[in-house]
Amino acid sequence: MAQDIYDPAFVATLFDRCSQRYRRWSAISSFGFVWLWRKQCVDRLIGQTSIARIQNGKVTPKQPKVLQVVDLMAGTGEIWPHILAEFPRAKITAIDISPAMHAEAMIKLHGARANQITHFAANALTNDLPENTADMLVATFGLKTFNHDQQTILARQIARILVPGGQFSLIEASDPQGWIFRPLYRFYLAGVLPLIERVFLQGAQDFSMIATYTANFQNCAHMEKALRAAGLKVSMKRHFFGCATSVAGTKPIAPDAPTP
Ligand SMILES: C[S@@+](CC[C@H](N)C(=O)[O-])C[C@H]1O[C@@H](n2cnc3c(N)ncnc32)[C@H](O)[C@@H]1O
Repeated sequence: MAQDIYDPAFVATLFDRCSQRYRRWSAISSFGFVWLWRKQCVDRLIGQTSIARIQNGKVTPKQPKVLQVVDLMAGTGEIWPHILAEFPRAKITAIDISPAMHAEAMIKLHGARANQITHFAANALTNDLPENTADMLVATFGLKTFNHDQQTILARQIARILVPGGQFSLIEASDPQGWIFRPLYRFYLAGVLPLIERVFLQGAQDFSMIATYTANFQNCAHMEKALRAAGLKVSMKRHFFGCATSVAGTKPIAPDAPTP
């Protein structure tokens, strides 16, 4: 029987096998683009903070508080330096389903800012983070291993976890439909990378799955619809000719009830 590549257990095992080489392999194979796209994900989050402060037609003052940030499908926590550079006092709660990615992240936690980060090995689709608690939520490159139904569940989870007025920003590698160099890009993902992996990583075919997931995922368009259906304000953006797409937005604050 064909393997269900969207089964969370399958995905967890796949990333367990990738965990030790993930950081270096993703940076090198993307020519550093993953670093840029994580930064752009955080930039979009910052852009949403001003929008979120608009209430009843007025911009509310900034709240000097410790921000609670949730990082879903966190992997080894590569986005944390970008978050902490912008929000130095933030507390980050990170989730990843792969025990080995979790273990790699825990090694990283023993750094100077360990007290600001909590990392759980858990399924983001069934997580029980308390509702209305996250001021901000991010996810980088963790959407493609979800099919449409799972994206819909994830969107509901995001709407549940965020505080009213909270912001989110999610980014994912995508299929750059219509780009003149798309055939070359696809050849690189589906032909060159698997060959390099086979030769240099003892015949492994784990990172090569990314080509399949990205081709199936297409872009963040379904996630955009799912987030809107979950009651969030959202807009989608293309990055580098559509090689990545992002969705960012806010959880609306219910308007004050009209005075009788
Ligand atoms: C491509 S990595 C991205 C890691 C990191 N966010 C980054 O920017 O490098 C995708 C991660 O999503 C995690 N993941 C996949 N499905 C998940 C789920 N249902 N719940 C939590 N984590 C999941 C995988 O274990 C993997 O670590």
